[in-house]
Amino acid sequence: MIRKLTLPALAALGLMTGAAQAAESGGHIHNVRFSFDGPFGSYDQQQLQRGLKIYTEVCSACHGLRYVPIRTLGDPGGPELPEDQVRAYAGNFEVFDPELDDTRPATPNDHFPKSSLPNAPDLSLMAKARAGFHGPLGTGINQLLFGIGGPEYITAILTSYTGKTREQAGVTYYENTAFSTGWIAMPPPLAGDDVEFDDGHSSELHHEAEDVSAFLMWAAEPKMMGRKRAGFVAVTFLILLSVLLYLTNKRIWKPVKKAAKEA
Ligand code: HEC
Repeated sequence: MIRKLTLPALAALGLMTGAAQAAESGGHIHNVRFSFDGPFGSYDQQQLQRGLKIYTEVCSACHGLRYVPIRTLGDPGGPELPEDQVRAYAGNFEVFDPELDDTRPATPNDHFPKSSLPNAPDLSLMAKARAGFHGPLGTGINQLLFGIGGPEYITAILTSYTGKTREQAGVTYYENTAFSTGWIAMPPPLAGDDVEFDDGHSSELHHEAEDVSAFLMWAAEPKMMGRKRAGFVAVTFLILLSVLLYLTNKRIWKPVKKAAKEA
């Protein structure tokens, strides 16, 4: 019986891995070890601050973060900027105020602006909208092991330009091996050394890409640590409950089993 089952199972496994390899051939996305990976991971405040700087100085020229309130930059678990810095940061942006019927400098209660380039997507939820890891065969095993891969996908997009360009209907496309079609309309935003950090932290291309991806993960899921903590408490509770139920069950049926044995 067992032999009858193992052969088809092995064949199916072979097929699955084959299909997974085929699916991955269009731009493989590497796992990145982020500080927020795993059940006990948490955001690295310094990394989020570096990511914020890269977003502000580079990406915000085209992309908005319209769903993110500026005040959350001071929230615990995030970049945790001091209050005066959050206020100063907000002052960099102009927002339209319908009450004044005019623009005014933003305050921490305003959101980040919308994308200024119409065809650049808003980045607020990008780290959760894209998946770097799939399959095999839609089973999601890779996502179970490595996470959905949103920040890894963004890191890959920023580091997978080949340098080739082509023009189509007046638009320039840049070859990018991580992008679904292979050609993206975003010019390479980072080249390495695009920003300078006060603490002298490396601004090599892949460091910058990881820092800004971590920041965008925080933007998309600022309460990740709370979710993980709640999950951990729930799982611990369920395990304890299972043990108690098992013991109760044994105890309840003990006299019946004994009677059955004696009969
Ligand atoms: C010069 C303007 C410009 C800058 C600067 C820029 N982008 Fe983009 N970005 C675009 C455009 C345009 C697209 C849409 C590309 C497409 O759909 O072909 C895009 C798309 C994206 C996407 C989505 C890819 C997808 O799967 O749809 C991500 C992620 C992204 N940008 C991240 C960034 C990050 C992070 C930065 C800063 C390091 C940045 N961009 C800087 C113009 C820009």
